Amino acid sequence: MARLRTAILISGRGSNMQALVDAAADPAYPAEIVRVISNVPGAGGLERAAQAGITTTAIDHRDFDGRAPFEDALHAELTEAGVELVCLAGFMRLLTEGFVERWFDRMLNIHPSLLPAYKGLHTHERVLSEGVRFTGCTVHFVRPAMDAGPIIVQASVPVLPADDADSLAARVLTAEHRCYPHALRLVAEGRTSIVDETVIIEGAGGPAGITLNPDDGIL
Ligand code: GRF
Repeated sequence: MARLRTAILISGRGSNMQALVDAAADPAYPAEIVRVISNVPGAGGLERAAQAGITTTAIDHRDFDGRAPFEDALHAELTEAGVELVCLAGFMRLLTEGFVERWFDRMLNIHPSLLPAYKGLHTHERVLSEGVRFTGCTVHFVRPAMDAGPIIVQASVPVLPADDADSLAARVLTAEHRCYPHALRLVAEGRTSIVDETVIIEGAGGPAGITLNPDDGIL
């Protein structure tokens, strides 16, 4: 079966991108990574992607007069590469409603919290300052509102008494690296459908397959 042609958009180090690239290195994985694009020319993730043999492109948003022309260039690059699905992985530009509509149900994002809690930046600092006992990560379809959209996969992560933002971020990141390849697999296999803005996973009768916690026995 043809693998789903997937692009990853990054702005930074690209560890989630690397997790997706590593998963897709298996020819049996249902998605292939055909482009890695960054809005930050020196982003470390571009070098990592190039080392994995993936075509990379830098499209510097500062070269454009506003969001729409930047997004037009991004869209043109994605279209030219025959991309079918976009994965945002630490992509730090807000996307306009127009761009989101063009990739509606064809764009995923990963966020380091259990959405809809803790949207936006500095999630771990806020989690710690409010004393919550669990946080986690979420992979979801992208909608125009920031960090909103139908949830595909989540994992919960405990907040430990000795945590600071760095230690908590590291623990959540480990979960992110498991969740994103799993979510992309579900989408690329055509097992996800969206009903009333919630995701139904074909073949997942219960929570197994959509929550990635240690006792789920999935990975
Ligand atoms: C991750 O925590 C991701 O959830 C958030 O930005 C961070 C990106 O890290 N959106 P990396 O570039 O994937 O290492």
